[in-house]
Amino acid sequence: MSRWKAKHDKEHYYKLAKKENYRSRASFKLKQLNKKYKIIKPDHKVVDLGAAPGGWSQVVTEIIGEEGCGQVVSVDLEYIKPIDHEAFLAIKGDFTTQEVQNTIVEAIDGRADVVLSDASPKLCGIKDIDNFRTYDLASSVLDITDNILKNDGDLIMKAFQGEAYQKLISDLKKKFRNVKTTKPNSSRKRSSEMYIIARGFKAKKIKNS
Ligand SMILES: C[S@@+](CC[C@H](N)C(=O)[O-])C[C@H]1O[C@@H](n2cnc3c(N)ncnc32)[C@H](O)[C@@H]1O
Repeated sequence: MSRWKAKHDKEHYYKLAKKENYRSRASFKLKQLNKKYKIIKPDHKVVDLGAAPGGWSQVVTEIIGEEGCGQVVSVDLEYIKPIDHEAFLAIKGDFTTQEVQNTIVEAIDGRADVVLSDASPKLCGIKDIDNFRTYDLASSVLDITDNILKNDGDLIMKAFQGEAYQKLISDLKKKFRNVKTTKPNSSRKRSSEMYIIARGFKAKKIKNS
């Protein structure tokens, strides 16, 4: 793809986000993913990890709509400006910590039907360090599903193609019945980001329950 085309696509989604009142271009990625895979439903409890500024969460509240009884709990290190929808709740903090995971479980009163993660770590430009940081964060998302995702629930997560990408996919295949990778049109072609659709979470049995 030419540089011109890549720049054109980026500007196209940026302008569209402004026009349609989305907080980020990223909204279109989730819209396209959910249109194709039909994962999020109006009655779902959804946890959005790495949610700021809130573009994905806006899309989830739209899916829940006026009638749906779903919920979206949005977590980020950064402040997320409230979304005017009764299903929305924001938690400011680091989702890799047990404390924040406990707060999430309390907020959704149980386990989520769907976990979303568009989280990206801070990158420094040194390839080995950045590869390590992205794999480490993606692995944390996977670990967190053990605590917050219900049996047979689904996960949509961002991952970056790199050295540890195949390892991440094989880790996911151990925990989910079906794992696919995809790249929505709104994701820049030059970027190594991919989206993983993992369905049918095999929750571990909790002892004495
Ligand atoms: C690309 S942005 C997400 C964009 C969002 N999906 C949207 O549509 O607006 C990635 C976010 O991941 C967050 N993040 C990275 N690591 C995190 C962590 N450990 N805990 C919470 N948030 C984290 C960053 O603060 C950043 O806001």
